[in-house]
Amino acid sequence: MAITTCIFDAYGTLFDVNAAARQAAAEPGYEALAACWSKLSADWRAKQLQYTWLRALTGEYTAFWQVTQDGLDWALEANGLEGDSELRARLLQLYWELSAYQEVPVMLNALKTAGLNTAILSNGSPDMLEGAVSFAGIGDVLDDVLSVESVGIFKPAPQVYELVTERFGCTLDEVLFVSSNCWDGLAAAGFGFNTVWVNRTGEPLDRLGHKPREVLSDLTRIPELARVF
Ligand code: LAC
Repeated sequence: MAITTCIFDAYGTLFDVNAAARQAAAEPGYEALAACWSKLSADWRAKQLQYTWLRALTGEYTAFWQVTQDGLDWALEANGLEGDSELRARLLQLYWELSAYQEVPVMLNALKTAGLNTAILSNGSPDMLEGAVSFAGIGDVLDDVLSVESVGIFKPAPQVYELVTERFGCTLDEVLFVSSNCWDGLAAAGFGFNTVWVNRTGEPLDRLGHKPREVLSDLTRIPELARVF
């Protein structure tokens, strides 16, 4: 079956989650952050994701925006920056305007020109996702932005991946699912989608019993894979 529908994870896949801390670190007044921004950013992301998994397990769903703030508070404290409320506010503000990876607009355009459905499927709250999509100027090349908010549980719960087939009325094997978060891609592969893992940093494969159909180092070749899969 040919691919009809290309679905993208948002944070880490289309949008660079390290952009907020990187940018704030370069601004005047945040010298303490400049000394530790990459560790703080990694701690923030790790805790944000852990909290989604834990909340999915306990059934204590809360909006991703809350989880994002909770992860940041942990990371600020872990890096000795917990008293800096101005820095906290700046980092959160920047999270609404994360830069998209440079190949994203051209890649999405090529998929639309080829007549494929395109959408985001993300843990993100709808308003956060809308902020990032509009800041990146990619709203015109996306058919939809699907948020876990409508099912009240985070990835990798199968109800989340089901949103795609419900929305587009397609079969599992018509879907190409793209994520930079290996665990997300493998869960989508287990669900039955064709999956590409975009491994920008050369990480080892997660051991979760599934394999992506292809591993890429960025998003450039997605339109080509959508044609040949
Ligand atoms: C998302 C997280 C997993 O966008 O990055 O769903």
